Amino acid sequence: MLVAGNWKMNTDIKAAVELASAVVEAVGDSGKVGVAVCPPYISLSSVNDVLSGSKSKIKLGAQTMHHQEKGAFTGEVSASMLVSVGCSYVILGHSERRQYFGETDQGVNNKIFMALSCGLTPIVCVGETLSEREGGNEQSVVESQVQEALQDVEIEKASQLVVAYEPVWAIGTGLTATPEQAQEMHAFIRTLLVEQYDNIGNKIHILYGGSMKPANALELMQNKDVDGGLIGGASLKAPDFAAIVEAAKSV
Ligand code: 13P
Repeated sequence: MLVAGNWKMNTDIKAAVELASAVVEAVGDSGKVGVAVCPPYISLSSVNDVLSGSKSKIKLGAQTMHHQEKGAFTGEVSASMLVSVGCSYVILGHSERRQYFGETDQGVNNKIFMALSCGLTPIVCVGETLSEREGGNEQSVVESQVQEALQDVEIEKASQLVVAYEPVWAIGTGLTATPEQAQEMHAFIRTLLVEQYDNIGNKIHILYGGSMKPANALELMQNKDVDGGLIGGASLKAPDFAAIVEAAKSV
């Protein structure tokens, strides 16, 4: 089980430090559940200080990165920079990056290679829009996202991957996939991962994201192929985030 908080473009440095401290306090001993927080770039260093200065096992993640090692890419941040600030995880291909910043499956593929080569665990986001689901195309959309993002990623690296299924229609809308819808898509993603990576595909964490909150976390995570959550809004409230971690511990 893995529970990761995507803070998106929220919190200045002071608020990020306060939130991180509150999360450390509220989560306490996370047991076997992996926990990560992904603040905005500018707060990574300060949040890393909070996490590494505590007894908590909570890990640090970033929300995106550039696929090149270094160079003339004004405004961008590289994988090795993220490692140097203490990151273990990086979210790649979030639907908001795809929608507002033109990220493509090919771009996500390039980023996955760079993240893995630097020792970062990529959290690779996939998911269909409402019109794609209404048209009955949700599986074909997710299939091509998974296959193109993971194209040529070797089996030796596969155990370092995390996939997040985030139906776009459920993000920030208060609408959540039903446990049945989530399990159906997670099982489908599982078959794709097993086709590509044999038994290792069974061990890759597949997170659900999209309006996950304390009230629905358990029923979602109780499903066989739901291995945790990628949490947006509820990760900005330490008690809610901690309650989701508690739910993961009980599964
Ligand atoms: P919400 O939990 O706010 O719906 O966001 C989900 C998400 O996009 C996490 O990456």
